[in-house]
Amino acid sequence: MSTSELPITGELVMKTIAMPADTNANGDIFGGWVLSQMDLGGGIVAKAHSSTGRAVTVSIDSMAFINPVKVGDVVSCFAQLIHRGRTSMKIQIETWTYSYISKESKHVTHGIFTYVAIDENGKPCQLTNDEK
Ligand SMILES: CC(C)(COP(=O)(O)OP(=O)(O)OC[C@H]1O[C@@H](n2cnc3c(N)ncnc32)[C@H](O)[C@@H]1OP(=O)(O)O)[C@@H](O)C(=O)NCCC(=O)NCCS
Repeated sequence: MSTSELPITGELVMKTIAMPADTNANGDIFGGWVLSQMDLGGGIVAKAHSSTGRAVTVSIDSMAFINPVKVGDVVSCFAQLIHRGRTSMKIQIETWTYSYISKESKHVTHGIFTYVAIDENGKPCQLTNDEK
């Protein structure tokens, strides 16, 4: 199934393969690794909206792990800006997996991450004027 046929929200910001080095004690992929992929992907969107091109993660408002990620799954993160503040932005991020073995796509996580645009001194700064 192509991603265009899935009920996905947002743009593709990260695509990688889950590797054995990232497993937990159950043999599935460690939740922290998935979270890290989401944070990196959301950070790309946040940078695009920062007037300096710099942004940091300040909080994760909600996070749900829905299905386990298996070694060898293709892991894709999709992100959408859902709120612009003065210096902060909320980005909704969801993760889907695709298995070339089972030919199945699964929605595995979703969360809302808040990023803050920062200047070269690490202080909050304005977002771009661009409303997109
Ligand atoms: C992000 C950071 C620069 C904000 O500094 P600050 O002095 O708290 O800034 P302010 O109080 O002026 O808040 C700036 C914006 O962040 C928002 N904000 C601050 N803390 C927040 C929190 N915990 N959750 C959500 N938003 C938050 C404010 O609402 C404000 O938004 P607005 O400008 O859109 O209205 C600072 O907290 C920081 O450097 N944190 C560490 C970030 C980091 O290293 N992340 C990597 C993970 S280890």
